[in-house]
Amino acid sequence: MKLRALFLSVCTLAIVFTLTSCGKKDTAGDMMKKDTAMVAPTPAPAPAPKTLYERLGGGGAIKLVVDTFVTHVAGDKRINKFFAHANVPHLKQMLVEQISAATGGPVKYTGKDMKTAHHGMKIGDKDFGALVEDLQKALNDYKVPEPEQKELIGALGGMKGDIVGQ
Ligand code: HEM
Repeated sequence: MKLRALFLSVCTLAIVFTLTSCGKKDTAGDMMKKDTAMVAPTPAPAPAPKTLYERLGGGGAIKLVVDTFVTHVAGDKRINKFFAHANVPHLKQMLVEQISAATGGPVKYTGKDMKTAHHGMKIGDKDFGALVEDLQKALNDYKVPEPEQKELIGALGGMKGDIVGQ
């Protein structure tokens, strides 16, 4: 009889232990820990990469570079004869618009297409190269970093086929 009572006590203890210790319910803290572990934090959206227009310093900086560029062209004996009858304020305005639009700026180019603008001028490879050098000189005057210089000249270089030999 004593043995039976002892056996029953052991079983009762085992059941109580299972219900309390092993089957223990999560505390609020435990649940919060699990919640944070399961829900990944939303990553902040990556900032939009800057356009070349922005990296060049925007419209104000482009206007300064174009002014200096045209001054270098006017003093460049290799090519300034081409511009003898040019409307310089209009040319500067068109260059600012064109460079701004080509570099992702919020500007529309309102000038002529490059074939029409240079039609009959018989511009050669060397003339084109001289003008690019004058642009590079202006970019250096304003300490525009090399990657931005290369990107800009690359974008304008794509127009060469419509400018040279027309
Ligand atoms: C990447 C190279 C060049 C670009 C982006 C460029 C761009 C332009 C633009 C935007 C205009 C104004 C078009 C308009 O009036 O609607 C223009 C005109 C003109 N360009 Fe170019 N050009 C380039 C190369 C050259 C070269 C190499 C020469 C000669 C050496 C040249 C000579 C002229 C001349 C003489 C005009 C007419 C200016 C006037 O009558 O007011 N261009 N160009």
